[in-house]
Amino acid sequence: MENKIVYLNGDYLPLNEAKVSVLDRGFLFGDGIYEVIPSYSGHLFHFEDHLQRLENSLDGIRLPNPHTREEWATILAPFLDAQLDQYIYLQVTRGVAFKRDHAFPEHVPATVFVMCSTIVPFTGLNQGVKAITMDDTRWKLCNIKAITLLGNILHRQSAVEQGCAEALLINEGYLVEGAASNVFAVIDGVLCTPPKSNEILPGITRDVILDLAKKNNITTSEDKIAFADAKRATELWVTSSTREIIPIVELDSVQIGDGTPGLVWHQMNDIFQTYKKSLL
Ligand SMILES: Cc1ncc(COP(=O)(O)O)c(C=O)c1O
Repeated sequence: MENKIVYLNGDYLPLNEAKVSVLDRGFLFGDGIYEVIPSYSGHLFHFEDHLQRLENSLDGIRLPNPHTREEWATILAPFLDAQLDQYIYLQVTRGVAFKRDHAFPEHVPATVFVMCSTIVPFTGLNQGVKAITMDDTRWKLCNIKAITLLGNILHRQSAVEQGCAEALLINEGYLVEGAASNVFAVIDGVLCTPPKSNEILPGITRDVILDLAKKNNITTSEDKIAFADAKRATELWVTSSTREIIPIVELDSVQIGDGTPGLVWHQMNDIFQTYKKSLL
């Protein structure tokens, strides 16, 4: 195992020396939240937006932010490498409580963990990927980036077992998001994505794409997408910080469009890559 340096509660130390108590509420209850922030050539991508979502997630689980924005920037700085594209994973749990009790413990410091990985470009971008649909069995607070990911894991695993890259989740007849991604559909020439709500994680990539689309005269819609409409989409994409914009060319074994990444995807992917470079 690569013995990279990680951050744990104030210390930078080799991964194999980073230890957390078995009484940590992250381990016992999944009681914590996380963030994943891309860093391109040493520049954190939309750092303020990720910090805002981190604050929203912490508010959502009623855990005070253990650090100011300046402190977070200082903690992450040693991980950044101008020669690499990386993503920073950071996690905050409700800390180590000596009594196992569902209710919050008092006067317990949060556990803060940070690690960093090199971004491996997603294979399959140029030919597109396959996806399945599944009834969304997760909870009602999907807007919180909670470490409690069992629902998402089971959905993604089902997709993988069926030779697919992602599971698209259906909630009461509407397409909401992927197991670890947001979803976009091109329907009647309009780039559609579901609105922000407690049914989806408000993806940073999603917001960037919507913003770039508007600036480039691509018509967008943030309305709910009935599954019946998604089925007649000419393009479907999933988006996330780690995989960026991935075209889906087959859904539930049915071809999307002509079975190759569509024109709008090509246009948006070019715009997105140009935008990333413009920030360096
Ligand atoms: C459930 C879910 N939705 C959406 C996203 C995309 O969010 P972002 O673009 O901020 O990575 C993720 C990312 O991991 C996710 O897990």
